[in-house]
Amino acid sequence: MTALQPRCVQAPGFETVPVPLAERAYDILVGRGLLDSAGPRIAALGAGAAAIVSDEVVAALYAERLAGGLRANGMRTATIEVPAGEASKSYEALARVCDGILAARIERSDLVVALGGGVVGDLAGFAAAIVRRGVRLVQVPTTLLAQVDSSVGGKTGINSRHGKNLVGAFHQPSLVIADTALLDTLPERERRAGYAEVVKYGLIDDRSFFEWCETNWRAILAGGPERDHAVAQSCRAKAAVVLRDEREDGDRALLNLGHTFAHALERATAYDSRRLVHGEAVAAGLALAFRFSVKLGLCPGQHAGRVAAHLDATGLPTRLQQVPGGCGTADELLDAMRQDKKVKDGALTFILARGIGQSFIARAVAPDAVRAFLTEELAA
Ligand code: NAD
Ligand code: GLY
Repeated sequence: MTALQPRCVQAPGFETVPVPLAERAYDILVGRGLLDSAGPRIAALGAGAAAIVSDEVVAALYAERLAGGLRANGMRTATIEVPAGEASKSYEALARVCDGILAARIERSDLVVALGGGVVGDLAGFAAAIVRRGVRLVQVPTTLLAQVDSSVGGKTGINSRHGKNLVGAFHQPSLVIADTALLDTLPERERRAGYAEVVKYGLIDDRSFFEWCETNWRAILAGGPERDHAVAQSCRAKAAVVLRDEREDGDRALLNLGHTFAHALERATAYDSRRLVHGEAVAAGLALAFRFSVKLGLCPGQHAGRVAAHLDATGLPTRLQQVPGGCGTADELLDAMRQDKKVKDGALTFILARGIGQSFIARAVAPDAVRAFLTEELAA
C-alpha cells in the first residue's frame, strides 16, 4: 500500500498488527478465542481498574467473561451498559457513561474498555477521551464492522441532530483485541453490513484484495481462516492510512469512500436500524460513489457494474430504491451532505474512483452535479 505499511507479526493462533504511532503506538490482535486471554493482556497495561462499557445485548453475552478475566488478573471492574443501537451515540448516553466511569472511581491511570460494536466503541471512546481529560482506552470490538474499521484509528464521537459523528475527539486505544469467534453470535444482517467496510479497503487502493473478496466472501461471512485474514488485512490497510494521516488532514479521507452518501442515507432514515444500519448505508454509498464517478466521466462503467454486482451478490443494498421507507428527495439528501465533516468553505468533498482500487479525494464537487446524479438515481 505505502512505504509506511505496518509490519505484520505472525503468532500461533492470532496475528498482531502494530500501529506504530510513536507515543500513541498500539497493537491490534486478531484471532479466534482471544477474549479468554484478554484479562492478562489488558492487565499488562498496568492499570488497577477498568470500566467496561457495553450495550445490553453484548454485555449479556460477553461482559462477565471479560470482567472475570480482568478480576482474575488483579483488576477492579465495573460494567456500564447502554441500550443497543445507534440511538446510544447521543448526549444523554454520553452523560450516563461519563458519570458511570466517575462513579466507578476510574482514575487517569485506569482504563475504559469498549466491549461492543462501533456504537459502543465510538461512545465509550469519546467518554474515555473527555473524562478526567483523558483515560486510556482498550477496544474489544464484537462486530465485523468494529473489528475492521471503527476500533482502529482513534476516531470517537456521538451524533448530533445536525448529523452523524459531528461531536467527537481523536483518542487512540492502547490495545485492540479482535476475537473473531465473537462474530459467530452476530446476526447475519450485521455480519453482511460489516462486510461492506471490508470490501471498501479493496476499492480504495487494493484491487487484488477486492478480487480475493469476490472469491471468498461466503467464507468470510461464515467464519474460519478467511474471516481472520479479512479482518487482519483490513486492519493493516486502515493502520497504513492512519499512520500517514492520523488526524485526517489528507489521505485519511479516503477511508470515507461511500460515506458522504451513506451518512446522508442514515440521516434520511432517522438512524433507524430497522430501516438501515451503517454498513448497509456504506454498501449503497460505495455503489453510488462508483456510479457517480462514471457519471462524471472518471471511471469505466464496467468497474461500477462489478462493484454493484459483488455487493448485490452478498445481499447488500446498492440503490436508493432499496432503502426501506424511501430516502427523501435529491435536495434533502444534498442538504444532509452539507453537514459532512469533509465540507470546506461550503464546498462538497467526495471520495471518487478512477477504477477498482483507484480512489481519490475530489474537492469542490459542484452541488448541481450531485443533485442531477441523485435525481437520476431516484428515478432509476
Ligand atoms: P452496533 O455497534 O450498533 O452493533 C450492531 C448490533 O449488533 C447491535 O445491536 C449490537 O448489540 C449487536 N452486537 C454487537 N456485537 C455482537 C455480537 N458479537 N453478537 C451478537 N450481537 C452483537 O453497530 P456497528 O455496525 O458495529 O457500528 C456502527 C457504528 O460504527 C456507527 O455509529 C458508525 O458511525 C460507527 N463507525 C465508526 C468508525 C470510526 O472510525 N470510529 C468507523 C466506522 C463506523
Ligand atoms: N472510518 C473512517 C476513519 O476512521 O477515518
